[in-house]
Amino acid sequence: MSLKAVTQIPGDTGLSELIRTHRRRLNYGDVMLEQSRKHGDIVRLPVPGVPKILLSHPDDVQDVLAAKAQYFGLFAQNLLKALFPWGLVATEGQIHDENRALMLMAMRKMQSRINVNDSLARCRQIVSAFRDGQIIDLYQVARDLTYATAVGFLFPPAVRAEILSGLHHEEFLQVISRTNCYFLGLPRPLKLISLLTTILPILKVKKLQHRMRSQLQKIVDEFRPDFEQAPFRDVLSLLVDGSEIGGSMNVAFLVDNIIALLLAGYETTANTLAWALWEASRQPTLQDSIAGEGQQLADNPDEGPIWMNRALWTDAALRESERLYPSVWNLARQTLSEYQIRGYLLPKGTPVYVSQWVTHRDPRWFPDPESFIASRWIEDRHRSATPPTCGGASAQRPTFSFFPFGGGKRFCIGRNVFDLEASILLASFLSELKLTPVSKVKVRPRFLVTMQPDSPMLVRVQRH
Ligand code: HEM
Repeated sequence: MSLKAVTQIPGDTGLSELIRTHRRRLNYGDVMLEQSRKHGDIVRLPVPGVPKILLSHPDDVQDVLAAKAQYFGLFAQNLLKALFPWGLVATEGQIHDENRALMLMAMRKMQSRINVNDSLARCRQIVSAFRDGQIIDLYQVARDLTYATAVGFLFPPAVRAEILSGLHHEEFLQVISRTNCYFLGLPRPLKLISLLTTILPILKVKKLQHRMRSQLQKIVDEFRPDFEQAPFRDVLSLLVDGSEIGGSMNVAFLVDNIIALLLAGYETTANTLAWALWEASRQPTLQDSIAGEGQQLADNPDEGPIWMNRALWTDAALRESERLYPSVWNLARQTLSEYQIRGYLLPKGTPVYVSQWVTHRDPRWFPDPESFIASRWIEDRHRSATPPTCGGASAQRPTFSFFPFGGGKRFCIGRNVFDLEASILLASFLSELKLTPVSKVKVRPRFLVTMQPDSPMLVRVQRH
């Protein structure tokens, strides 16, 4: 059978569509969703330059991320590579695999050492500042909660205060997000002009990166003698010492990977937690069920991991938040050689996207896809022998119809840690405070590198 050219892949690529897309450049998620609903499982996106392809069927997602991952490399990681050349998210091949093995081992060790009482105390400390009737921004609260948690998890106690006050991660995230989105929508010649207009923020971020690096470097050197008291309770100590994870990490890799962990772990968790809280504030029954599970944890904090298996509504609300508002909403790859798919031949170097935002909203796999229905995950649990996991099939859905944490050789290394920390924070927050919506507040997703709310998530709080 003869294969069709990449330019024959359906999609609205006319001039007017290009202009419309460019105007909506911070809203690529909706552009992708519209195109996929209109044209099907393989679509050519209305973005200038070489044809850019969106694949939204779970079987194709599985091929790109896992089964045929050897045919794909990372795409549009240039800025990340420039900022953290040795960070896991920016490296490929042997360096990636070796560092990933060490980091995975460190994350596994840490998972069993998370202290539930510390997480509960952090949550109570933030909650204690609120008055009854006060209006709060859930997004800001989720960020405060997860940043303190991420720092507690990554760094030894002696340096946490310094880190909390010293690392200006926010500016990094903003510049990376904006520059990436900007580049996605521009043809190559215009990129140079746009680069000139963004040069100042990029220079600023380079300066920041330099400061972060030297700060971390200083911490590693200064506190090296303290890294001797295994079992360690933070990732940095595990990686520096190396005795528990089968080898220590070279200092250049270490610094980049700690920054990458902070960025990959904190922002994503904050978004998912914020959306779960936001939706719970609109569904009193769901909110009460989660609050009840939070109370059970507060009564028996030593049962953390056992509690998690019983906290069905907490788990279901987080899954639904990952489905409807996937923090990582799009993964970008490019073909490393010619690649055949669905009767088309993609040339080497073709950018290929798989988007959680698009596939998770497909009514074939998730009935009533636009509604936040936590109970769908409880039903899934009853039907499946094992709890639903990303990349895991259920009786109702194919593998990779749900992939908030990616899949294959780049599957998120923080997933299990996220599950425990986010469950504790969500349930204990709602066991302390009742949330009610503030009228006329509407929040929509904003498609930056991670998917964030476009405005404050305002709710009124009342102590239980
Ligand atoms: C809601 C929470 C989270 C979501 C949705 C999420 C999502 C993802 C996704 C989709 C990937 C794959 C990227 C790709 O294929 O290119 C990934 C990779 C990664 N995640 Fe997460 N993540 C979360 C939490 C965390 C946490 C808590 C940590 C660490 C503390 C973390 C650290 C990482 C790292 C280091 C990678 C790179 C892995 C590699 O390239 O080998 N993530 N994450």
